[in-house]
Amino acid sequence: MNLRDVLEQRISSAIQAAGGEDAPAMVAPSAKPQFGDYQANGCMAAAKRMETNPRQFAETVLDKLDISDIAQKVEIAGPGFINIFLRDEWLCGRLGDIAADEKLGVAAKAQPQTVVVDYSSPNLAKEMHVGHLRSTIIGDALARVLEFLGNKVIRQNHVGDWGTQFGMLLTHLDEVGQSGESLADLEDFYRDSKKRFDEDEDFADTARQAVVKLQAGDEHCRENWRRFLDISLAHCQEVYDLLGVQLTAADVRGESAYNDDLPRVVADLDTATLLAESQGARGVFLDEFKNKDDERAFIIVEKSGGGYLYATTDLAAIRYRTGELGATRILYVTDSRQGQHFAQVFLIAQKAGFASPEISLEHVPFGMMLGDDGKPFKTRTGGTVKLMDLLAQARAEAEELVRRKTPGLDDDHYAAVAKAVGIGALKYADLAQNRTSDYVFAWDKMLSLEGNTAPYMQYAYARIRSIFRKAAEAGEPAADSQEAGIVITAPAERNLAVKLLQFAETIDAVAATTMPNILCGYLFELAGAFMSFYEACPVLKSHGQTRSSRLALCDLTARVIQKALELLGIETLEQM
Ligand code: ARG
Repeated sequence: MNLRDVLEQRISSAIQAAGGEDAPAMVAPSAKPQFGDYQANGCMAAAKRMETNPRQFAETVLDKLDISDIAQKVEIAGPGFINIFLRDEWLCGRLGDIAADEKLGVAAKAQPQTVVVDYSSPNLAKEMHVGHLRSTIIGDALARVLEFLGNKVIRQNHVGDWGTQFGMLLTHLDEVGQSGESLADLEDFYRDSKKRFDEDEDFADTARQAVVKLQAGDEHCRENWRRFLDISLAHCQEVYDLLGVQLTAADVRGESAYNDDLPRVVADLDTATLLAESQGARGVFLDEFKNKDDERAFIIVEKSGGGYLYATTDLAAIRYRTGELGATRILYVTDSRQGQHFAQVFLIAQKAGFASPEISLEHVPFGMMLGDDGKPFKTRTGGTVKLMDLLAQARAEAEELVRRKTPGLDDDHYAAVAKAVGIGALKYADLAQNRTSDYVFAWDKMLSLEGNTAPYMQYAYARIRSIFRKAAEAGEPAADSQEAGIVITAPAERNLAVKLLQFAETIDAVAATTMPNILCGYLFELAGAFMSFYEACPVLKSHGQTRSSRLALCDLTARVIQKALELLGIETLEQM
């Protein structure tokens, strides 16, 4: 159990024993040291419900509270807060436990879930562009965190490989011949096809027929479509590998995979008496949603004259994920504009029994990346920014920074550091935002060595590692944190100790809220606590037990930083 939960449990039982039924203790880290390490504010709500004086109620709770093994002091503050001051010896004991634990105190879930994380999921008509970045890295971080907690995570790359755009791409491919080169730049290829489609009626007709032929299983169309997908997916894989994102070819299950199941989805909606007809189209009326004219919404699943939609495919996918994959929780990481789509699809799936009520269907929305003009992020000439180009620039910007900061190293070193720092900075800048808001993309901010950035965290890590190199060079190697006992002698040590113990509750919070920025915020506080400790407490110059304890704190800090960055999908370097 994480530290916060331990306190929550103790105080909740005391509230209950004091007659507060099962009111939660609502424990959180204190905002200021004078309020202790943690503060509980659940007494107020419980007292209000019982119509009694909150301070008096808090007194009764303290009488019932059994916590002297953990806390050296508990006191009532303000209108009925309970401030908890933890015992140093207890903190040291727990630190010893997490130091000896490979997972740094993060306990596996008592009831692991099977979680499907649907992320990245680009439409394969074009090259990956900035619009795909957020889903790809937020989804990847969430998948890693959920997996670390012992859940079975199934990554699903729900690529758009079946839309009407393939008609025009296939027709253009036929026109320009089968030369491999024509597909080298998917972006150009898409643009040329689109131009032909918009300008030439005959081309457009042929393109429309090509879609029908493709979906009917025509050999030639299928073959070229497959070729197109292979190239497109290989391009995606290149981006994933460069980004250090864990998606592989095995995670791809595109829209086309559900094609044969779509008539069955419609039939099953019919059996569930949900299906209706409106202007020739078939779909589901939802009283819970309104359309533009303030009438109940009609969600089309089959167009008049045939043809299925994005929503139909998602309904089929839900059934596959709950049925075949056994998912009990499904996350959809897409931008917030798809919020209504998912709300409607989830509701229909529940009504139709495609997902039972215990299964958690969650849209994980995010805002936009903006340029410094506050408008959607574009190239200087106003075009879409290709991810490949963005990643190349990230490395170039980072290389310049590192060459400036540490001159005189060899080129291989710079290349490795530039990759870790550049890609790390790009990812961290995104993950550190509250994902629901838009954010302004700025190289200088994300590469800054001060502030809540990847380079700052990577430097903190490398700096700790250098302490150990120095110790080894001086012939006084240090025992690592798994062996040495930790003692608290100074306030800065204590502060760092508490932060280290909060790693587990942070990870639990990220998994519960699907908010990676919580982990970044924690890392920033941890690094700050370390810096204060390092300024206030000599490490290599201290002696005996103090020295080994401080070295153990250093080592544990480095391990937590490294693990946290790894969960965010960011590399660390031993030396920068
Ligand atoms: N391909 C879609 C797009 O680019 C995202 C798919 C998200 N996943 C899903 N199951 N609908 O907007």
